[in-house]
Amino acid sequence: MKELAPSILSADFCKLGEQLSFLEKEGMSFVHIDVMDGHFVPNITIGPLVCNSIAKNFPHLKLDVHLMIEEPMRYIDAFAQCNPYIIYFHLEAENHADRLVNYIKSKGVKAGISINPSTPVSLLEHLLPIVDGVLVMSVNPGFGGQKFIPYTKNKIKLLNNIRKAQGYGYFIAVDGGVNKENIKELSDLGCNLFVAGSSVFKGDIVKNFKEMNNILKGKL
Ligand code: DX5
Ligand code: ZN
Repeated sequence: MKELAPSILSADFCKLGEQLSFLEKEGMSFVHIDVMDGHFVPNITIGPLVCNSIAKNFPHLKLDVHLMIEEPMRYIDAFAQCNPYIIYFHLEAENHADRLVNYIKSKGVKAGISINPSTPVSLLEHLLPIVDGVLVMSVNPGFGGQKFIPYTKNKIKLLNNIRKAQGYGYFIAVDGGVNKENIKELSDLGCNLFVAGSSVFKGDIVKNFKEMNNILKGKL
């Protein structure tokens, strides 16, 4: 799988439906939803109500739900009702990650784990066989429009090597500072899902999406 997942964090919230429609017409199949609680990260963003509304109005979009919240267990039921493609929680926010992965799966939703830039891949050793997706943060979470942190590429490489060596089934997602300049390199390192906020939503969103999607699909 090689897919772009535009992050609505950088969308114009007064025109969210319109912007999603434009992108869906261009072939967008994933949409990334950043849920922030003002505790795990300094920012406060979107909750289950908005997520539900997107799910109802765009039933064919795969909702890529990124929880940047403390005590994520408390909100799994609410987000699972939006019928998302996957829910990621942060390893740094949960003491009982194995339990939470299994709980998300018990709701019929794929379970994903996310790690901050400074969290080593080695801490995921026992989760990698059971998760469906690993979301590598390539910026410190909380805000859109930040610069890609180069050393996170080593973590992507490592996750790709472990996946090959062990035959695990997780996909690798990268989130933060992804743009048309670095997306090809990230794809070559083994990434499958590319979260892009400001590089899609700032300026001409259709042109931005097309350009990045074409690089990803090898048409440019
Ligand atoms: C940051 C979020 C990202 C954010 C990425 O905490 O998790 O999904 O939207 O934004 P860009 O692509 O602008 O770095
Ligand atoms: Zn995100």
